[in-house]
Amino acid sequence: MKPTTSPVKARAHTNIALVKYWGKKNEQLIIPQNSSLSLTLDQFYTDTAVQFRDELAADQITFNGQLLTDDGQRKISRFLNVVRDLAGISMHASVDTVNHVPTAAGLASSASGFAALAGAASRAAGLALSSRDLSRLARRGSGSATRSIFGGFAAWNMGHDDNSSYGYPIEETVDWDIAVVAVVLNKTAKKISSRQGMRAAVATSPFYGAWVQTATRDFDTVRQAIADKDFETLGHVSEENAMRMHALNLSADPSFTYFNADTLHAITLIHELRDAGYPCYCTIDAGPNIKVLCREPAVTAVVTKLQAAFGNDAVLVAHPGPGLTFITD
Ligand code: DP6
Repeated sequence: MKPTTSPVKARAHTNIALVKYWGKKNEQLIIPQNSSLSLTLDQFYTDTAVQFRDELAADQITFNGQLLTDDGQRKISRFLNVVRDLAGISMHASVDTVNHVPTAAGLASSASGFAALAGAASRAAGLALSSRDLSRLARRGSGSATRSIFGGFAAWNMGHDDNSSYGYPIEETVDWDIAVVAVVLNKTAKKISSRQGMRAAVATSPFYGAWVQTATRDFDTVRQAIADKDFETLGHVSEENAMRMHALNLSADPSFTYFNADTLHAITLIHELRDAGYPCYCTIDAGPNIKVLCREPAVTAVVTKLQAAFGNDAVLVAHPGPGLTFITD
């Protein structure tokens, strides 16, 4: 197939990992140290339109209406090179990306960004990739994007090379009442990117080997909990897994953490809610913000308690969301 003569637009949603990816075996191909598992959310998504055009002298990338230069541009251009290689073309591309995150920032993610870009760029280049191949391609941009090709519960099989490291759906349509309450505690960009943070953990934490062992076990347990609709096990193991990932960072040399004082406060509030009989569990990615896993009947109690502590605008409710879609205007 030939490159398209008009832009191709794709939409992908972000995902929250229940069993985290925190470390690479291969930095260049983004092959992880352990398999991971996530829930794609309905609230936070990215729309990206791509067209390869003969007349362009360089890739032209706009993000939320602003032309990217320097590092931002380079990262996307490197990814487009992978697409160009696959399609056997050399044309530059125009890329127009819009991130849809309710209330400003704090939850934006490279997962939805690279999943949408993988979809739009591959199709615009004339490729017709399977979902698995799209997930392998998205992986080359950012590891967590591997899972955002799929909706609902999805996994990333770690594999050992480019072919064997791919995403797959576990339960695309989630037919139970899971909700995720997100609390935005800090909107500023993080000082240590996930890429740097996980590199430091692999290289210097004496507990890294134990992380790989426990995360591998957690993967099987959470997978079974999803099949059994066993929310308590799913929540309990997800929270433990997140705390262990963050413990790796504290045990790195030099030690670092993504938590701030509000993060610890929010964790305490969730523990209090649990003690009061509400099954809710928290998970935290490479930043101070908290996501609380709960079922629908507990949402009001969780939202009320978190809003009282952090303000109404800091709290957002999300539900399971869809996988990659193509959009025709
Ligand atoms: C804590 O996918 O952002 O969210 O592959 O280096 O781009 P790179 O990292 P990224 O890391 C995500 C880390 C995490 C856990 C997860 O999503 O599994």
